[in-house]
Amino acid sequence: MMTLQNRRILLVDDMPTIHDDFRKILCPQAPAKSALEATRAALFGDDPPKATTATAAFELDSAYQGQEGLAKVQASLREGRPYAMAFVDMRMPPGWDGVETIEHLWRADPRLQVVICTAYSDTSWDEIFQRLDARDRLLILKKPFDNVEVRQLAQALTTKWQMTQQAALQIDSLEAAVDERTHKLTQANEALQAEIAERKHLEAQLVQQEKLASIGQLAAGVAHEINNPIGYIFSNVGTLEGYLEDLFRMLDAYEQTPAALPLRPLREELQIGYLKDDVPSLMRETKEGVRRVRQIVQDLKDFSHVDSLQEWQVVQLHQGIDSTLNVVGSELRYKADVVKEYGAVPEIECLSSQINQVVMNLVVNAAHAMGERRGRIVIRTGSADGEAWFEVADDGSGIPKDVLPRIFDPFFTTKPIGKGTGLGLSLSYGIVQKHQGRITVDSEIGRGTTFRVTLPLRRSAAAPTVAEALAA
Ligand SMILES: Nc1ncnc2c1ncn2[C@@H]1O[C@H](COP(=O)(O)OP(=O)(O)OP(=O)(O)O)[C@@H](O)[C@H]1O
Ligand SMILES: [Mg+2]
Repeated sequence: MMTLQNRRILLVDDMPTIHDDFRKILCPQAPAKSALEATRAALFGDDPPKATTATAAFELDSAYQGQEGLAKVQASLREGRPYAMAFVDMRMPPGWDGVETIEHLWRADPRLQVVICTAYSDTSWDEIFQRLDARDRLLILKKPFDNVEVRQLAQALTTKWQMTQQAALQIDSLEAAVDERTHKLTQANEALQAEIAERKHLEAQLVQQEKLASIGQLAAGVAHEINNPIGYIFSNVGTLEGYLEDLFRMLDAYEQTPAALPLRPLREELQIGYLKDDVPSLMRETKEGVRRVRQIVQDLKDFSHVDSLQEWQVVQLHQGIDSTLNVVGSELRYKADVVKEYGAVPEIECLSSQINQVVMNLVVNAAHAMGERRGRIVIRTGSADGEAWFEVADDGSGIPKDVLPRIFDPFFTTKPIGKGTGLGLSLSYGIVQKHQGRITVDSEIGRGTTFRVTLPLRRSAAAPTVAEALAA
């Protein structure tokens, strides 16, 4: 690290006598210590007060040709002890003249302050200034020169060098401080943005959770109300079917008897033959309708966690996925190839049949997302940081951006009536929430959709709710 105090001067002149003169002016011999000072130094080991900077000696180096001057400047830079200034003679045969020398010196060290010394000029001043376009670093000393003039020039220019250096250092440290401050502000800004994003995410989650919770209550109420009547409708329809079968048997038997003959016209009029054919199919459709209503009610109950009889179990996730794939096999067979990319997953504690239901909903949705073309469904699993995850990725239609925020809403469906109830994903969301896991979706139109479910390996006693997390 170079010091700011710099009294080093280089004299470049071909005349040895000039060097002697400069040395006398700039480096006068220190006066001999007085007897009193010598005794004092011997006793107390300290020097008398130093001479002030105004009269302090300079460190003078000599060069007799421009090339030698350049070599000295280069060496001084290598040693980290640059010259503050140089006195350069104008005419120095046989080598470079003063102007050329200065050009070289400045190329090596642009900070060097220079005094050009001349008695007469072969070159005009204008030409000199044109060649050396740095008047702020260049002064002229005309021979014969005055001692005081030389000392003052040395004093002023070495001080100027120091002040210039000091200013540069201050600017550097100011810039470094500004950089550091900017860096800190950027970091603070990034942290703030991340926090805002996190809060927005939590708020959205809270809204979703509240929405689902209120819908859940409604669903639980509706399910409860519908459950009873649907129960006796279902059982009555079954009984009615039996009764109708009996009645038709009775009618068949009656029609074989002669007593039925007079009723033939009425039979034709009432289209009893068609009725006998139609009633069983009507009964079948009714039963199917009631069965679907019962399933919806069951889904609603699951969604609102009315049935919490299920036991938590420690299970192999892969087993659950495999058995679910077997159940929905027929749904997939003609639509897509299923590829399993299973990673290493430890056993997880969960409500296994509900997790299977999530898998089923995701896989069936993936199959429904396929168009005419046969698609591909990839099921991936893995674990990290005390969590297990599985993904269901399809290369189907993808989900439009405006639809994406609504897919977890109960009864939201884009499927035709009878094909989807819109409960699959909301049920799945509820189940994953109950496990204190996460379900995320990534979708691109025309490329496909990936759902990822992340579950803790073990049921935690009481993870904070979103509301608690927000309040924290
Ligand atoms: N893999 C997917 N690819 C494209 N769209 C999807 C996918 N999964 C879900 N969706 C969209 O989200 C909507 C809601 O899905 P959800 O499973 O909740 O209901 P559904 O499949 O329509 O009916 P349900 O599952 O009750 O039979 C779907 O109608 C569909 O628009
Ligand atoms: Mg579905």
